[in-house]
Amino acid sequence: MIASKIPRILLVAGARPNFMKVAPILRAARAVGIDPVLVHTGQHYDESMSDTFFRELELPAPTHHLGVGSGSHAVQTARVMEAFEPILIQERPDWVVVVGDVNSTLACALVAVKLKDTLGLRIAHVEAGLRSGDWRMPEEVNRVLTDRISDLLLTPSEDALGNLVREGIPQERVVFVGNVMIDTLMHSLSCARASGFPERLGLLRGKYAVATLHRPSNVDSLRSLHAALGGLRGLANHVPVVLPLHPRTRRSIEAFGEASLLRPIVCTEPLGYIDMLALTDGAAVVLTDSGGLQEETTALGVPCVTLREQTERPITVTHGTNRLAAWPLNAEQIELAALAALKSGRVAVGERCPAGWDGRAAERIMSELCR
Ligand code: UD1
Repeated sequence: MIASKIPRILLVAGARPNFMKVAPILRAARAVGIDPVLVHTGQHYDESMSDTFFRELELPAPTHHLGVGSGSHAVQTARVMEAFEPILIQERPDWVVVVGDVNSTLACALVAVKLKDTLGLRIAHVEAGLRSGDWRMPEEVNRVLTDRISDLLLTPSEDALGNLVREGIPQERVVFVGNVMIDTLMHSLSCARASGFPERLGLLRGKYAVATLHRPSNVDSLRSLHAALGGLRGLANHVPVVLPLHPRTRRSIEAFGEASLLRPIVCTEPLGYIDMLALTDGAAVVLTDSGGLQEETTALGVPCVTLREQTERPITVTHGTNRLAAWPLNAEQIELAALAALKSGRVAVGERCPAGWDGRAAERIMSELCR
């Protein structure tokens, strides 16, 4: 890698799934003598959704914390934009690097694009080109718009290029770098295995299921919540099922007065990265509506049932260990899909990894940013 000038990099993180994406980029930057400005928007802000990730992933304290907190999509996005603009003007980076598809990703990219000529900056989007095709998902809106206004589109898997080209994005702006989530997974796996977390919950490796649920489409309506939790309860007749409860899901269950739906599922608080990785790594099957877990289970060789109508990560189905549950969600079908996945069994770690899921994506990102 030959750098004509050391670029000044500003890296944005806002919500839980961003933290494991920025960690390897920061490490790779420091390895080539660059100390990025880290901006935490504060979209996620409490101990279990943010602070624990900073400690476990050895992230430095953010240079700027915008403290935006929760709110409607408009309020959250607007607060991030308003707070980010003066920081950007003050820091004058060469690159604004945004990751993933959360509201903070789009909000910061949108501020940056309007100041692009004035400040002479460029925008890089890490995890570009993923598409579910479902515009009802807030994340899909964030993905498409962020890609449209970014200068450098860094893709996690080879199928992403086709999605971008179909939207008229010039191929020269797209670079396949691989998956930074898997950088973090590979970096942390031995530590997760040594943690003994599943055993502390009384679970035997390969003999339990893990579930996560937080998509508004699954947890904000009583019908879909009934279906998803009914499927997990059915599965709990065969293996213990552990469900770390996302704050949105907990609130929804409480609002509907449906706490009895959780029995006999083992519920925990939202888990830190290392505990969640340890739990996933030891599971016989994972049921989830998260994007990141679809990738992590594929990397770990753990069968996964995705509780969604479609996935923006189809490579985890075509190459990996993932399958989609029947849609609309139905308790009996979820149980059957989970039992089939259980029967299919685990494969070795890395056996089903798509190209570029090799632990070195962040190094390739730094090469591009320094080019
Ligand atoms: C957001 C992302 C989603 C990501 C998910 C991971 C968007 C549009 N969505 O969804 O892509 O998969 O994060 O968690 O950006 N809350 C807390 N503590 C916190 C943060 C949130 O209790 O630290 C509660 C708040 O009351 C909030 C709710 O959780 O209203 C939802 O948080 P929010 O950031 O609005 O969206 P998520 O559903 O978490």
